[in-house]
Amino acid sequence: MQARQRLPLAQHLYNGACAAARSPLAAAAAPPPALPGGSPLPRRLYGGAAMLRPLRRLSRPPRRAAATGPGRRLLLSTPIFYANGPPHIGHLYSALLADALHRHRRLRGAGPGRLSTGTDEHGLKIQQAAAAAGTSPPELCERVSSLFHQALTHAAVSFTDFTRTSEPRHQRAVRYFWGALRDGGALYKGSYEGWYCTPEECFLPESQLTEHRDAQGRPCKVSLETGHQVHWTKEENYMFRLSAFQDPLRKWLRDNPQAISPHPFYQRVLHWLEEDLPDLSVSRERSRLQWGIPVPSDSTQTIYVWVDALVNYLSVVGYPETHGEWWPAVHHVVGKDILKFHAVYWPALLMAAGLAPPERILVHSHWTVHGQKMSKSLGNVIDPFACIGQYTVDGFRYFLLRQGVPERDCDYYDEKVVKVVNSELADALGGLLNRSTALSINPSNTYPCFSESCFPKVLDYRETKGMGRASAEDYEFVASVASLPLQVANYFEGFQIYKALECIVLCVRQTNSFFQRHRPWKLNRKDPAEQLWLDTIIHVTLECLRVYGTLLQPVIPHTADRLLSRLAVEPEERGLSSLTFLARYNGKSCPFEGRQLGPDTGILFHRLEKSRHCTDLQT
Ligand code: MSP
Repeated sequence: MQARQRLPLAQHLYNGACAAARSPLAAAAAPPPALPGGSPLPRRLYGGAAMLRPLRRLSRPPRRAAATGPGRRLLLSTPIFYANGPPHIGHLYSALLADALHRHRRLRGAGPGRLSTGTDEHGLKIQQAAAAAGTSPPELCERVSSLFHQALTHAAVSFTDFTRTSEPRHQRAVRYFWGALRDGGALYKGSYEGWYCTPEECFLPESQLTEHRDAQGRPCKVSLETGHQVHWTKEENYMFRLSAFQDPLRKWLRDNPQAISPHPFYQRVLHWLEEDLPDLSVSRERSRLQWGIPVPSDSTQTIYVWVDALVNYLSVVGYPETHGEWWPAVHHVVGKDILKFHAVYWPALLMAAGLAPPERILVHSHWTVHGQKMSKSLGNVIDPFACIGQYTVDGFRYFLLRQGVPERDCDYYDEKVVKVVNSELADALGGLLNRSTALSINPSNTYPCFSESCFPKVLDYRETKGMGRASAEDYEFVASVASLPLQVANYFEGFQIYKALECIVLCVRQTNSFFQRHRPWKLNRKDPAEQLWLDTIIHVTLECLRVYGTLLQPVIPHTADRLLSRLAVEPEERGLSSLTFLARYNGKSCPFEGRQLGPDTGILFHRLEKSRHCTDLQT
């Protein structure tokens, strides 16, 4: 049973009032004011009568980021990674999804964008991991944080900000945020007891637990979802009035059906909000948890690591001073295991602090390995450094983004990487470039001309008989390539990057068929009419390759760069706004015609060897 009470918590919270009437700068520098009412409010979460005070009406609306339009700003974020162990491919997947979205935005020439990531360094989990490793938390965090930094850099994740929760600027933001919660009346002190799961850093209700035996064969309780052992914990904590936010959260979601994607996760959150929403313990006794940020003006308590971690999304944009330039134009990419923290706790905390919820939460599922959950104890953790070494940066990025489907768990095995990457990048894409730029069919090594007489513009491609040399199939194929950029953009917008890649591959295969169908190597270059048709076939093929190279930049940046350089596409011609496909077919001029092709005639993507396994434990 938990204490709950409907508070007169008005919608103005969600609409974004500002918690602090005082100057943010002055308040951040000065010690935050005492708890409402001066002394701690004695309360019990389970059973006791609630002494709730209404949340205070909040004043001053925050500055908002430009909401719409082409120049609109956007902060994309990855979760910040626990600094208790090295990165694995699940972490990398979260980061790659965000990176691809960020890069695609840049390609579209959208407004200013940032991609934030970092490490989550406080909490019992880290404190215990450091003790087990015979080191101190700061030392452990330093080492692991730099491993994450390296892994993300190595994987070409184009982050603009890397936040460590141990940094002073972040800690200052957390203290300020706590002050805003407290000043808004959203916190109270109570005694809390329940089953705490350290690996998940949260209390779990009985309904999410099951009986088990520990390593010594003693009965114990474990989390149903993760199998991690839980421990009974009873202590004095500060509680956050989460229960008061049930209706505002529901309203927020009803008003914003795109707020959580893919849709099944949106429904999952709505379902959670139908159930009981108990208040949330947001601090731990300092005697148990020293590795964290002390509660302002109560040094006996440490701020709950999830509150601390979530605030990274604000500290990165300069909270409490300059965040209004970005907030709430924010999209969080998160794994399904941390959905409740992002889609229930975080928006409620934000509302309570007088800020609007993030614009979107983009959720992905998990990678399993040979059908099993990835775990250190099973020894099946996939090391991103080994994978990149084995499959190259682009090969591995391509695999994860092409095979990862956010709606459902995906299974990893090394053979699948080799198969997908060889067939789609090395053979289909690389082969197409190789064949269409071969000196045997294009000895001048230039971007050849398009001939309208060979490929005349038609209103209905089924009526092409006797009009040129292109067939109805050819018209159909160029139409599908012409619609590709928009299709890809829609899939990126809908957080379905795998579908965008599927469409691109389909077009690459169609282009190979087009090329094969017309056997340009059989055409007689001495015959002017044949030469015109030969040039047109190559021109169309290179135009297609230019589209694929441009669209693939967010996913395989190095390979795309190589491809575009070979096609002599200048850096300033690689954006989506300058991507005019087959201009000559539409009677316009094509700036590429006659251009000397790039000098690198090497293989675009080398076939991968049958793999050495990347499944290994790392330390
Ligand atoms: N520190 C928290 C996040 C705080 S954000 C304010 C955390 N860290 S984590 O290191 O455990 O996880 C980071 C991300 O990796 C999460 O999005 C999580 O879902 C993702 N993955 C962890 N294991 C995964 C797989 N096996 N597969 C795919 N992604 C997974 O949670």
